[in-house]
Amino acid sequence: MANVSPAGSGLSSTVLSSLRGKHVLLTGTTGFLGKVVLEKLLRSVPDIGGIHLLIRGNRRHPDAEQRFIHEIASSSVFDRLRQDDNEAFDALVERKVQCVTGEVTEPDFGMEREAFEALAGSVDAVINSAASVNFREELDKALAINTLSLDNLAAMAEINRELSVIQVSTCYVNGINAGQVAETVSKPRGSDIPRSDQGYYETEELIRLLQDKVAEVRASYFGEQLEARLVALGIAEANRYGWSDTYTFTKWLGEQKLLKALRGRSLTIVRPSIIESALAEPAPGWIEGVKVADAIILAYAREKVFLFPGKRDAVIDIIPVDMVANAIILGLGEALEEPGHPRIYQCCSGSSNPITLGELIDHVTAEAQENHAAYDQLFYRRPSRPFVAVNRKVFDALMSGARLPLSMAGRALKILGQTRELTSLRNIDTARSLATIFGFYTAPDYIFRNDQLMALADRMGDGDKQLFPVDTQRIDWQRYIRSVHLAGLNRYALKERKMYSLRSSRRRRKAA
Ligand SMILES: NC(=O)c1ccc[n+]([C@@H]2O[C@H](COP(=O)([O-])OP(=O)(O)OC[C@H]3O[C@@H](n4cnc5c(N)ncnc54)[C@H](OP(=O)(O)O)[C@@H]3O)[C@@H](O)[C@H]2O)c1
Repeated sequence: MANVSPAGSGLSSTVLSSLRGKHVLLTGTTGFLGKVVLEKLLRSVPDIGGIHLLIRGNRRHPDAEQRFIHEIASSSVFDRLRQDDNEAFDALVERKVQCVTGEVTEPDFGMEREAFEALAGSVDAVINSAASVNFREELDKALAINTLSLDNLAAMAEINRELSVIQVSTCYVNGINAGQVAETVSKPRGSDIPRSDQGYYETEELIRLLQDKVAEVRASYFGEQLEARLVALGIAEANRYGWSDTYTFTKWLGEQKLLKALRGRSLTIVRPSIIESALAEPAPGWIEGVKVADAIILAYAREKVFLFPGKRDAVIDIIPVDMVANAIILGLGEALEEPGHPRIYQCCSGSSNPITLGELIDHVTAEAQENHAAYDQLFYRRPSRPFVAVNRKVFDALMSGARLPLSMAGRALKILGQTRELTSLRNIDTARSLATIFGFYTAPDYIFRNDQLMALADRMGDGDKQLFPVDTQRIDWQRYIRSVHLAGLNRYALKERKMYSLRSSRRRRKAA
């Protein structure tokens, strides 16, 4: 296939040529990563045939079109495209974007069978970014979205045997495995999960077992207690089989489902590590919501947490969101050019440009101490103390030691009529709860490797390396953390959502 030159570059791009005229279904575009993938496809792949967005309705906006207008097109992720030419952006959206209302956890996305078949037949590839990224999701919900919903992708591939499936997974499917983690399926570290003669993990029986346990819990509890029990069940089962949390366990189960169901078809699994704000595109620091590491940064910025369990010298694997979008698009380009099964790419920084937890903490605290005033939404004032990482046992001992007298003082004050909880007590509980959720991620024993992704970038050539960079050696961590990421958090994640009135939204509504 002939390569296409990005305008004015003189370099050829395999991605641009393989995506020319192609139709791609994208899930999860109301989320963080999905938006960046959509923006990059719209901005950098002008000859793509069409981008179909599968979006479920919600209470405010019952159909995909309305959610697209109010929650996606209105996002600051498109500021760059709009600033370049607002009219052209509206026209581009009209031409390229199709909204499809669907719920990924329902059979056939909850669509009529004919509509589902028509959708499967009309796209060349699907990028599945929809997931529950809640580490402590109720087990049944996590299974539904992260595992069982993938039956729909298998069903699509059954209808359209040429379909390329790009599954967005996570490096953390590797569970509690330690050491160098390659782009393969690693053996889980917990209770045995049988493997077939072909080498696939036999997860059907395990999923049935998990569903039986969910049913038992459902029969015995209701309301908030039921929710808490289903969360606890997820964590217990994840721990039993070798994962730290329900999210990563159910994402692993999802990978296994696809690996088996799509035998002989085209499947690419892209596993990002901890996704953070954009390095460069669509704008340095672009981010949506408060992500994993940011919940801890925010708690420090607001002086709620100064102590956290973690290993200062361990490599914390962070990857800017634009590099993840690029990895997905490179994988997509490759799959459309040359379908293959299974390809696994880890999009991460740990092996190629590591940053330790200690370095991350030092950059954040230095910026907080020296420049806090530049980030009005993030820091209300200069944090009074530095942020300190200690080992888990020390953390637990210090927190329990400090909590007991505070809790007694709190009770005494309540008796005297003071109704507000002591701030220090609240802060200890915040630190403990963040430690429960994120402790595994701040004390890593593993290094994720990205050799296959780097080899893919090499194979695709210089044009694609320039258009879709994935090489983390480009990242100057000090600059990224201090000047890009904190500024991005301040500007995009913590500011109030802008209310756009999309011109084309009016046009679309009129047309409807
Ligand atoms: N964020 C990270 O650090 C990270 C790291 C590694 C891998 N990943 C992977 O990257 C992907 C995207 O993550 P993200 O950070 O963008 O997550 P996110 O911001 O929470 O977005 C999740 C998306 O999934 C959709 N979704 C959830 N349940 C759905 C359902 N039942 N039906 C239809 N859509 C549903 C959400 O739609 P609604 O708005 O309708 O809920 C939303 O668009 C996921 O596959 C995740 O596992 C993320």
